[in-house]
Amino acid sequence: MNTKAYDSIKPIIWKNDALELLDQRLLPAEHTYITLTDVKSVAQAITDMVVRGAPAIGITAAYGIVIAAKQRFSESPDNWKQAIETDLEILARSRPTAVNLFWAIDLMRELIKDLAVEDPIATLLTVARQIHEDDIAANVKMGELGAQLITEPCAVLTHCNAGALATGGYGTALGVIRSAFAQNKIRHVYADETRPWLQGARLTAWEMVHDDIPVSLLVEGAAAHMIKTSQNTENPIRWIIVGSDRIAANGDVANKIGTYALAVLARHHDIKFMVVAPTTTIDMNIAGGDDIPIEQRSTKEVLGFGSLEVAAKGAKAINPAFDVTPAELVDAIVTEKGVVFNPDLAKMKALMTNVG
Ligand code: MRU
Repeated sequence: MNTKAYDSIKPIIWKNDALELLDQRLLPAEHTYITLTDVKSVAQAITDMVVRGAPAIGITAAYGIVIAAKQRFSESPDNWKQAIETDLEILARSRPTAVNLFWAIDLMRELIKDLAVEDPIATLLTVARQIHEDDIAANVKMGELGAQLITEPCAVLTHCNAGALATGGYGTALGVIRSAFAQNKIRHVYADETRPWLQGARLTAWEMVHDDIPVSLLVEGAAAHMIKTSQNTENPIRWIIVGSDRIAANGDVANKIGTYALAVLARHHDIKFMVVAPTTTIDMNIAGGDDIPIEQRSTKEVLGFGSLEVAAKGAKAINPAFDVTPAELVDAIVTEKGVVFNPDLAKMKALMTNVG
Protein backbone atom coordinates (compact mmCIF):
# COMPACT_ATOMS: atom_id res chain seq x y z
CA MET A 1 0.00 0.00 0.00
CA ASN A 2 1.14 3.54 -0.66
CA THR A 3 1.03 4.79 2.94
CA LYS A 4 0.71 8.35 1.68
CA ALA A 5 -2.31 7.57 -0.49
CA TYR A 6 -4.61 9.16 2.10
CA ASP A 7 -2.82 12.45 1.43
CA SER A 8 -4.70 12.75 -1.81
CA ILE A 9 -8.06 12.74 0.05
CA LYS A 10 -8.62 16.36 0.98
CA PRO A 11 -12.11 17.23 2.17
CA ILE A 12 -11.20 20.83 3.06
CA ILE A 13 -8.88 23.17 1.15
CA TRP A 14 -8.16 26.86 1.71
CA LYS A 15 -7.27 28.37 -1.64
CA ASN A 16 -7.26 31.87 -3.12
CA ASP A 17 -8.84 33.41 -0.01
CA ALA A 18 -11.78 31.01 -0.15
CA LEU A 19 -12.88 27.72 1.34
CA GLU A 20 -13.18 24.74 -0.96
CA LEU A 21 -15.15 21.76 0.27
CA LEU A 22 -15.25 18.39 -1.42
CA ASP A 23 -18.99 17.80 -1.87
CA GLN A 24 -19.37 14.53 0.06
CA ARG A 25 -23.01 14.19 -0.99
CA LEU A 26 -21.81 13.37 -4.49
CA LEU A 27 -19.09 10.85 -3.62
CA PRO A 28 -18.06 8.41 -4.90
CA ALA A 29 -19.66 9.14 -8.29
CA GLU A 30 -18.36 12.70 -8.52
CA HIS A 31 -15.29 14.37 -7.06
CA THR A 32 -16.44 18.00 -7.07
CA TYR A 33 -15.34 20.91 -4.89
CA ILE A 34 -17.63 23.79 -4.08
CA THR A 35 -16.15 27.21 -3.33
CA LEU A 36 -17.55 29.19 -0.40
CA THR A 37 -16.96 32.87 0.16
CA ASP A 38 -19.57 33.82 2.76
CA VAL A 39 -20.29 32.49 6.23
CA LYS A 40 -23.97 31.64 5.63
CA SER A 41 -22.98 29.29 2.81
CA VAL A 42 -20.39 27.69 5.09
CA ALA A 43 -23.03 27.04 7.79
CA GLN A 44 -25.45 25.73 5.15
CA ALA A 45 -22.77 23.38 3.78
CA ILE A 46 -22.34 21.90 7.27
CA THR A 47 -26.11 21.48 7.76
CA ASP A 48 -26.54 19.95 4.30
CA MET A 49 -23.69 17.42 4.78
CA VAL A 50 -21.44 18.79 2.03
CA VAL A 51 -18.84 18.38 4.76
CA ARG A 52 -19.49 16.06 7.71
CA GLY A 53 -17.66 14.23 10.47
CA ALA A 54 -16.92 15.97 13.76
CA PRO A 55 -13.32 17.15 13.23
CA ALA A 56 -14.03 18.21 9.63
CA ILE A 57 -16.99 20.29 10.82
CA GLY A 58 -14.77 22.06 13.39
CA ILE A 59 -12.05 22.84 10.83
CA THR A 60 -14.65 24.11 8.36
CA ALA A 61 -16.13 26.41 11.01
CA ALA A 62 -12.67 27.84 11.77
CA TYR A 63 -12.15 28.72 8.10
CA GLY A 64 -15.74 30.02 7.99
CA ILE A 65 -14.85 32.46 10.77
CA VAL A 66 -11.89 33.72 8.72
CA ILE A 67 -14.32 34.41 5.87
CA ALA A 68 -16.75 36.14 8.23
CA ALA A 69 -13.98 38.27 9.78
CA LYS A 70 -12.79 39.40 6.37
CA GLN A 71 -16.28 40.58 5.48
CA ARG A 72 -16.98 42.24 8.86
CA PHE A 73 -13.56 43.91 9.07
CA SER A 74 -13.88 45.37 5.56
CA GLU A 75 -17.36 46.73 6.42
CA SER A 76 -16.40 48.18 9.78
CA PRO A 77 -12.83 47.99 11.10
CA ASP A 78 -13.96 49.54 14.40
CA ASN A 79 -16.97 47.39 15.08
CA TRP A 80 -16.15 44.04 13.48
CA LYS A 81 -15.62 42.18 16.74
CA GLN A 82 -19.19 42.83 17.86
CA ALA A 83 -20.64 42.29 14.36
CA ILE A 84 -19.00 38.89 13.89
CA GLU A 85 -20.92 37.48 16.89
CA THR A 86 -23.98 37.02 14.61
CA ASP A 87 -21.84 34.90 12.27
CA LEU A 88 -20.53 32.75 15.11
CA GLU A 89 -24.12 32.10 16.13
CA ILE A 90 -25.11 31.14 12.59
CA LEU A 91 -22.26 28.63 12.50
CA ALA A 92 -23.18 27.29 15.95
CA ARG A 93 -26.71 26.49 14.71
CA SER A 94 -25.46 24.40 11.77
CA ARG A 95 -25.33 21.02 13.56
CA PRO A 96 -25.80 20.30 17.28
CA THR A 97 -23.99 17.09 18.22
CA ALA A 98 -20.34 17.33 17.13
CA VAL A 99 -18.61 19.32 19.86
CA ASN A 100 -15.64 20.06 17.60
CA LEU A 101 -17.85 22.72 16.01
CA PHE A 102 -18.32 24.54 19.33
CA TRP A 103 -14.70 23.96 20.31
CA ALA A 104 -13.50 25.70 17.13
CA ILE A 105 -16.00 28.56 17.48
CA ASP A 106 -15.03 29.15 21.14
CA LEU A 107 -11.33 29.07 20.33
CA MET A 108 -11.72 31.62 17.51
CA ARG A 109 -14.05 33.78 19.64
CA GLU A 110 -11.44 33.99 22.42
CA LEU A 111 -8.74 34.79 19.90
CA ILE A 112 -10.83 37.59 18.35
CA LYS A 113 -11.51 39.12 21.77
CA ASP A 114 -7.84 39.82 22.41
CA LEU A 115 -6.78 40.47 18.82
CA ALA A 116 -5.05 43.82 18.51
CA VAL A 117 -3.02 43.54 15.34
CA GLU A 118 -3.06 45.49 12.10
CA ASP A 119 -4.12 42.52 10.02
CA PRO A 120 -6.49 40.35 12.09
CA ILE A 121 -7.40 38.20 9.09
CA ALA A 122 -3.85 36.91 8.67
CA THR A 123 -3.75 35.91 12.35
CA LEU A 124 -7.13 34.17 12.19
CA LEU A 125 -6.12 32.31 9.04
CA THR A 126 -2.90 31.14 10.66
CA VAL A 127 -4.89 29.72 13.57
CA ALA A 128 -7.47 28.05 11.29
CA ARG A 129 -4.63 26.44 9.33
CA GLN A 130 -3.05 25.31 12.60
CA ILE A 131 -6.34 23.70 13.73
CA HIS A 132 -6.39 21.86 10.40
CA GLU A 133 -2.76 20.70 10.62
CA ASP A 134 -3.04 19.74 14.29
CA ASP A 135 -6.03 17.55 13.47
CA ILE A 136 -4.08 15.61 10.84
CA ALA A 137 -1.15 15.21 13.26
CA ALA A 138 -3.54 14.00 15.99
CA ASN A 139 -5.00 11.44 13.60
CA VAL A 140 -1.59 10.06 12.69
CA LYS A 141 -0.71 9.77 16.40
CA MET A 142 -4.03 8.06 17.19
CA GLY A 143 -3.36 5.73 14.27
CA GLU A 144 -0.12 4.64 15.94
CA LEU A 145 -1.64 4.27 19.41
CA GLY A 146 -4.75 2.46 18.24
CA ALA A 147 -2.80 0.03 16.06
CA GLN A 148 -0.74 -0.97 19.11
CA LEU A 149 -3.90 -2.32 20.73
CA ILE A 150 -4.46 -4.83 17.94
CA THR A 151 -2.22 -7.70 18.85
CA GLU A 152 -3.12 -10.45 16.37
CA PRO A 153 -4.09 -10.34 12.68
CA CYS A 154 -7.87 -10.12 12.41
CA ALA A 155 -10.80 -8.46 10.73
CA VAL A 156 -12.41 -5.30 12.12
CA LEU A 157 -15.80 -3.69 11.74
CA THR A 158 -16.41 0.05 11.42
CA HIS A 159 -19.48 2.23 11.21
CA CYS A 160 -20.29 5.44 9.33
CA ASN A 161 -17.19 7.24 8.04
CA ALA A 162 -14.47 8.29 10.45
CA GLY A 163 -11.83 8.63 7.78
CA ALA A 164 -9.84 11.30 5.98
CA LEU A 165 -13.15 12.69 4.72
CA ALA A 166 -14.50 13.20 8.25
CA THR A 167 -11.36 14.97 9.50
CA GLY A 168 -8.51 17.18 8.34
CA GLY A 169 -7.02 14.04 6.78
CA TYR A 170 -5.98 10.41 7.58
CA GLY A 171 -8.99 9.81 9.81
CA THR A 172 -9.69 8.69 13.37
CA ALA A 173 -11.10 5.14 13.24
CA LEU A 174 -9.86 4.76 9.66
CA GLY A 175 -6.50 6.21 10.74
CA VAL A 176 -6.13 3.29 13.17
CA ILE A 177 -7.25 0.91 10.42
CA ARG A 178 -4.74 2.45 7.97
CA SER A 179 -1.89 2.11 10.50
CA ALA A 180 -2.82 -1.40 11.59
CA PHE A 181 -3.25 -2.55 8.00
CA ALA A 182 0.20 -1.20 7.13
CA GLN A 183 1.53 -3.37 10.00
CA ASN A 184 -0.31 -6.46 8.64
CA LYS A 185 -2.56 -6.60 11.68
CA ILE A 186 -5.80 -6.12 9.80
CA ARG A 187 -6.73 -8.57 7.10
CA HIS A 188 -10.19 -7.33 6.28
CA VAL A 189 -12.48 -4.39 7.03
CA TYR A 190 -16.24 -4.78 7.34
CA ALA A 191 -18.05 -1.48 6.86
CA ASP A 192 -21.67 -0.90 7.82
CA GLU A 193 -23.45 0.87 4.97
CA THR A 194 -24.90 3.37 7.51
CA ARG A 195 -28.43 4.36 6.63
CA PRO A 196 -29.73 6.89 5.75
CA TRP A 197 -26.74 8.83 4.37
CA LEU A 198 -24.72 5.74 3.43
CA GLN A 199 -21.46 7.15 4.74
CA GLY A 200 -20.16 3.57 4.98
CA ALA A 201 -21.14 2.53 1.48
CA ARG A 202 -20.20 5.76 -0.25
CA LEU A 203 -17.31 7.16 1.81
CA THR A 204 -15.64 4.48 3.97
CA ALA A 205 -15.70 1.92 1.16
CA TRP A 206 -14.30 4.56 -1.22
CA GLU A 207 -11.45 5.42 1.17
CA MET A 208 -10.58 1.76 1.72
CA VAL A 209 -10.61 0.94 -1.99
CA HIS A 210 -8.51 4.06 -2.61
CA ASP A 211 -5.86 2.71 -0.19
CA ASP A 212 -6.11 -0.92 -1.39
CA ILE A 213 -7.46 -2.11 1.96
CA PRO A 214 -9.87 -5.05 1.46
CA VAL A 215 -13.35 -3.98 2.46
CA SER A 216 -16.77 -5.63 2.49
CA LEU A 217 -19.95 -3.66 2.98
CA LEU A 218 -22.83 -4.96 5.03
CA VAL A 219 -26.18 -3.60 6.06
CA GLU A 220 -26.25 -2.67 9.76
CA GLY A 221 -28.66 -5.52 10.43
CA ALA A 222 -26.01 -8.01 9.26
CA ALA A 223 -23.42 -6.98 11.86
CA ALA A 224 -24.52 -9.43 14.58
CA HIS A 225 -24.54 -12.35 12.14
CA MET A 226 -21.13 -11.43 10.71
CA ILE A 227 -19.53 -10.99 14.11
CA LYS A 228 -20.86 -14.35 15.27
CA THR A 229 -20.10 -16.36 12.14
CA SER A 230 -16.66 -14.84 11.54
CA GLN A 231 -15.29 -16.12 14.86
CA ASN A 232 -14.33 -19.56 13.62
CA THR A 233 -12.91 -18.38 10.30
CA GLU A 234 -9.39 -17.22 9.42
CA ASN A 235 -10.54 -13.58 9.61
CA PRO A 236 -12.49 -13.26 12.87
CA ILE A 237 -13.85 -9.80 13.70
CA ARG A 238 -11.94 -8.98 16.90
CA TRP A 239 -12.46 -5.21 17.07
CA ILE A 240 -15.19 -2.73 16.36
CA ILE A 241 -13.49 0.61 15.67
CA VAL A 242 -15.49 3.83 15.48
CA GLY A 243 -15.09 7.60 15.76
CA SER A 244 -17.10 9.97 17.92
CA ASP A 245 -18.93 13.28 17.72
CA ARG A 246 -18.80 14.05 21.42
CA ILE A 247 -17.46 12.23 24.46
CA ALA A 248 -18.89 13.22 27.85
CA ALA A 249 -16.80 13.70 31.00
CA ASN A 250 -17.67 10.19 32.23
CA GLY A 251 -16.57 8.55 28.96
CA ASP A 252 -20.02 8.07 27.39
CA VAL A 253 -19.65 8.31 23.61
CA ALA A 254 -21.99 9.90 21.07
CA ASN A 255 -21.50 8.66 17.52
CA LYS A 256 -23.49 7.85 14.40
CA ILE A 257 -26.82 6.16 15.10
CA GLY A 258 -26.24 2.43 15.28
CA THR A 259 -22.97 2.65 17.20
CA TYR A 260 -24.60 1.76 20.54
CA ALA A 261 -26.00 -1.45 19.05
CA LEU A 262 -22.50 -2.40 17.91
CA ALA A 263 -21.08 -1.84 21.40
CA VAL A 264 -23.74 -4.14 22.87
CA LEU A 265 -22.89 -6.73 20.23
CA ALA A 266 -19.17 -6.45 20.99
CA ARG A 267 -19.74 -7.16 24.67
CA HIS A 268 -22.08 -10.08 23.94
CA HIS A 269 -19.57 -11.68 21.57
CA ASP A 270 -16.53 -10.93 23.72
CA ILE A 271 -14.83 -8.77 21.11
CA LYS A 272 -13.34 -5.31 21.74
CA PHE A 273 -14.88 -1.90 21.17
CA MET A 274 -12.47 0.98 20.37
CA VAL A 275 -13.43 4.66 20.05
CA VAL A 276 -10.90 6.87 18.29
CA ALA A 277 -11.28 10.62 18.74
CA PRO A 278 -9.05 13.65 19.28
CA THR A 279 -9.29 15.51 22.59
CA THR A 280 -11.19 18.25 20.71
CA THR A 281 -14.11 15.77 20.71
CA ILE A 282 -14.12 15.46 24.51
CA ASP A 283 -16.61 17.72 26.27
CA MET A 284 -15.76 17.90 29.97
CA ASN A 285 -18.69 20.33 30.44
CA ILE A 286 -21.15 17.49 29.82
CA ALA A 287 -21.30 15.11 32.75
CA GLY A 288 -22.84 12.13 30.97
CA GLY A 289 -24.15 11.01 27.61
CA ASP A 290 -27.81 11.74 28.42
CA ASP A 291 -27.00 15.46 28.22
CA ILE A 292 -25.43 15.31 24.77
CA PRO A 293 -27.75 17.00 22.25
CA ILE A 294 -28.79 14.45 19.64
CA GLU A 295 -29.46 15.85 16.18
CA GLN A 296 -32.86 14.92 14.77
CA ARG A 297 -32.76 15.14 10.99
CA SER A 298 -35.57 15.32 8.46
CA THR A 299 -37.81 12.25 8.36
CA LYS A 300 -37.61 12.45 4.56
CA GLU A 301 -34.13 10.91 4.84
CA VAL A 302 -35.73 7.75 6.27
CA LEU A 303 -38.97 7.69 4.29
CA GLY A 304 -37.07 7.84 1.03
CA PHE A 305 -33.83 6.93 -0.60
CA GLY A 306 -32.15 10.02 -2.00
CA SER A 307 -34.83 11.80 -3.99
CA LEU A 308 -36.90 8.60 -4.29
CA GLU A 309 -39.91 8.19 -1.98
CA VAL A 310 -39.99 4.55 -0.86
CA ALA A 311 -42.00 4.28 2.36
CA ALA A 312 -45.74 3.64 2.45
CA LYS A 313 -47.64 6.89 2.17
CA GLY A 314 -48.93 7.95 5.58
CA ALA A 315 -46.12 6.25 7.53
CA LYS A 316 -44.29 8.43 10.02
CA ALA A 317 -40.58 8.16 10.68
CA ILE A 318 -37.98 9.11 13.25
CA ASN A 319 -34.45 10.07 12.35
CA PRO A 320 -32.02 10.55 15.24
CA ALA A 321 -28.59 11.02 13.65
CA PHE A 322 -26.57 9.88 16.68
CA ASP A 323 -26.79 7.65 19.72
CA VAL A 324 -24.88 7.36 22.97
CA THR A 325 -22.81 4.35 23.97
CA PRO A 326 -22.38 4.12 27.75
CA ALA A 327 -18.76 4.21 28.94
CA GLU A 328 -19.09 0.74 30.48
CA LEU A 329 -19.33 -0.76 26.98
CA VAL A 330 -16.19 1.01 25.74
CA ASP A 331 -12.91 -0.90 26.02
CA ALA A 332 -10.64 1.92 24.90
CA ILE A 333 -10.85 5.58 23.94
CA VAL A 334 -7.83 6.39 21.79
CA THR A 335 -6.84 10.07 21.69
CA GLU A 336 -3.69 11.84 20.52
CA LYS A 337 -2.77 12.34 24.20
CA GLY A 338 -3.03 8.69 25.12
CA VAL A 339 -5.39 5.75 25.49
CA VAL A 340 -8.06 5.55 28.19
CA PHE A 341 -9.04 1.95 28.96
CA ASN A 342 -12.48 1.29 30.46
CA PRO A 343 -13.19 5.04 30.68
CA ASP A 344 -14.72 6.76 33.69
CA LEU A 345 -14.76 10.29 35.07
CA ALA A 346 -11.46 10.04 36.94
CA LYS A 347 -9.59 8.64 33.93
CA MET A 348 -11.09 11.23 31.56
CA LYS A 349 -10.12 14.03 33.98
CA ALA A 350 -6.59 12.68 34.20
CA LEU A 351 -6.33 12.58 30.39
CA MET A 352 -7.66 16.11 29.99
CA THR A 353 -5.24 17.62 32.51
CA ASN A 354 -2.58 17.01 29.83
CA VAL A 355 -4.49 19.09 27.28
CA GLY A 356 -3.30 22.68 26.90
O1 MRU B 1 -23.58 12.65 10.29
P1 MRU B 1 -22.11 12.57 10.08
O2 MRU B 1 -21.71 11.94 8.79
O3 MRU B 1 -21.43 13.91 10.31
O4 MRU B 1 -21.62 11.61 11.25
C1 MRU B 1 -20.25 11.34 11.36
C2 MRU B 1 -19.94 10.38 12.43
O5 MRU B 1 -20.79 9.95 13.18
C3 MRU B 1 -18.50 10.03 12.63
O6 MRU B 1 -18.38 8.72 13.09
C4 MRU B 1 -17.91 10.97 13.67
O7 MRU B 1 -18.12 12.31 13.31
C5 MRU B 1 -16.49 10.74 13.88
S1 MRU B 1 -15.57 11.40 12.51
C6 MRU B 1 -13.94 11.23 12.70
